[in-house]
Amino acid sequence: MEIKELISKEKIEKRIEELAEQISRDYEGKNVEFIVVLKGAAIFAVELAMKLKPNVRFDFIEISSYSGTESTGVLKVNKDLKADIEGKDVLIVEDIIDTGRTLSYLKEYLLSKNPNSLKICTLVSKPSRRIVDVPIDYNGFEIEDKFLVGHGFDIDEDYRNMPYIGYIE
Ligand code: IMP
Ligand code: MG
Repeated sequence: MEIKELISKEKIEKRIEELAEQISRDYEGKNVEFIVVLKGAAIFAVELAMKLKPNVRFDFIEISSYSGTESTGVLKVNKDLKADIEGKDVLIVEDIIDTGRTLSYLKEYLLSKNPNSLKICTLVSKPSRRIVDVPIDYNGFEIEDKFLVGHGFDIDEDYRNMPYIGYIE
């Protein structure tokens, strides 16, 4: 198995700075309630938060989605939120949007808790893989259909701490 570099550490950092500027403008004067999707988005979330001007409050969720035989799947919440998000300005922080299933279930789940606003920020998106359409408010990189590792992305829990984003050749 060979890992090739796809997005350098420097490119990631620069793009996160751009996203942070945009988010800082949009949330001026508000608290940003991060909901970080574990585990992949943890690294991205910390880097993004430290570049944001508005105050960031963190919460974490760990979920898995099952698609089964029907097109409607279910969301399994492995680790739930700690705090109430009613009336809050919530930003979902995700590592990657692939088929879009996980995010669309998560969005539905969070909307049922009546936040004031709900937006999505992802480091990477693979548009060619999309099955369920999810509008992305802040999108770091669009990539082709490759299996990513590094900078939060894992293969069987390994490689998450590699500073760049690579792919398995
Ligand atoms: P979706 O429901 O298909 O959008 O699933 C997205 C989830 O699948 C992400 O949150 C990742 O955990 C995982 N995933 C998708 N593509 C990759 C990849 O290239 N590398 C590592 N994990 C991935
Ligand atoms: Mg994930």
